[in-house]
Amino acid sequence: MSGLAVVGTQWGDEGKGKFVDLLAPRFHTVVRYGGGHNAGHTVVVGGRTIVLHILPSAVLHPGVQAIVGNGCVVDPAALFSELDLLEEAGLDPAADLLLSDRAHIILPVHRLVEAGEESRLGDRRIGTTRRGIGPAYEDKAGRRGLRVGDLRHPEHRDERLAHLMSERGRQLGWEAGRLEREIGAARDLLDAFAARMLPRVVDTSLVVHRAIEAGRPVLFEGAQASLLDLDHGTYPFVTSSTAVAAGAAVGAGVGPRAIGRVLGVAKAYQTRVGEGPMPTEMPPAMNQRIQRIGNEYGASTGRPRRCAWFDSVVLRYSRRVNGLDELAITKLDVLDGLDEVRVGVCYRLDGERLDEFPGAFGALSRCEPEYRTLPGWSRPTAGVTRLEDLPKEARAYLAALEELVEVPVSLAATGPDRGSFLTRLDTPVTRFTAPA
Ligand code: IMP
Repeated sequence: MSGLAVVGTQWGDEGKGKFVDLLAPRFHTVVRYGGGHNAGHTVVVGGRTIVLHILPSAVLHPGVQAIVGNGCVVDPAALFSELDLLEEAGLDPAADLLLSDRAHIILPVHRLVEAGEESRLGDRRIGTTRRGIGPAYEDKAGRRGLRVGDLRHPEHRDERLAHLMSERGRQLGWEAGRLEREIGAARDLLDAFAARMLPRVVDTSLVVHRAIEAGRPVLFEGAQASLLDLDHGTYPFVTSSTAVAAGAAVGAGVGPRAIGRVLGVAKAYQTRVGEGPMPTEMPPAMNQRIQRIGNEYGASTGRPRRCAWFDSVVLRYSRRVNGLDELAITKLDVLDGLDEVRVGVCYRLDGERLDEFPGAFGALSRCEPEYRTLPGWSRPTAGVTRLEDLPKEARAYLAALEELVEVPVSLAATGPDRGSFLTRLDTPVTRFTAPA
């Protein structure tokens, strides 16, 4: 196995960071292939909680080549504050960090545009993270975007910046003086970005390609998740990048055959931040209980996450659009102590049974889930590291997920810290988690 893609299979916040952090030391190179600082990867190291937003989790592992790929959008100020925080924690994140010269830059104007749009939309808002992600990708697709590599060529950069800013300035109704001031401020920001980061800016596709050619293992780190994917997610309540596994090839600059295996990460239940339908959403009391026990508040924005039962219709869809080989289940311990646990098995729409996830918002928002109800477990799974030590009901729960999704569950997390996980099958991925 040379290339492993790790993807979120639900609506994000599945705990991908925990498994990427676990697997990263066994890999030569780890590439983030999409999104920006809308992501929040929480990793607990030695009792200290570290939240990464744009940086790949590999920056916590000296000697692993950590790459922000061309599919990402980078906010200079957000990147700086993340690097500063890590340095304060005694880590040297820049040592093995490279930034793609093709990644696009998020400017303050992107946040302004987005804040205005979301406010104007009122009840129809997307519920974005308001980080300027969508407008930055719009400018990329609209061919107005500014790329990290443009910083090397100041004249070209200034010309591109003026073009982008005047287009966005027109949309925001700026008069000439305001436009001048905003361009000046953006130029200062880009100067600081260039001074600090240019030595780390390269053609990262070439770096990944060479690692693969040399037979070195490469991990493609997904951000956001399949149901937030621009094409395959619950459009329009999605992010603006390609979160599914195929995005790893485009967003890292390699051919699809570089992705040897796909590991899907799923919570033992489900959560969603922002607007949009989620058929197995829990009633309020259970929702609040899981929110509290699972600490379900956005790592990037602090917003409470909506909680739902594990939905095998979603996961089967995710298996299809990602080509999942294996599943890693996180937060099993959050379900400890429930009398019973539920798993969505299919939907009902206008009296008809639906086994496949519907593409249309109009259909999905009217789907009623049908459940399989399983007995809960009173003995805690928290911190359990051996399958045989799990309560038999928790094992039955994992077996039910496996049967309904038709993908083997190879890893399960039973707590937030690095050591709290168990491996279930002897698969290529679990072999990577074995002691060196
Ligand atoms: P955007 O990515 O900020 O444009 O937000 C679009 C949608 O994706 C909103 O519903 C966000 O809450 C959601 N979203 C974006 N990134 C994440 C993430 O890392 N975890 C969970 N939800 C996310």
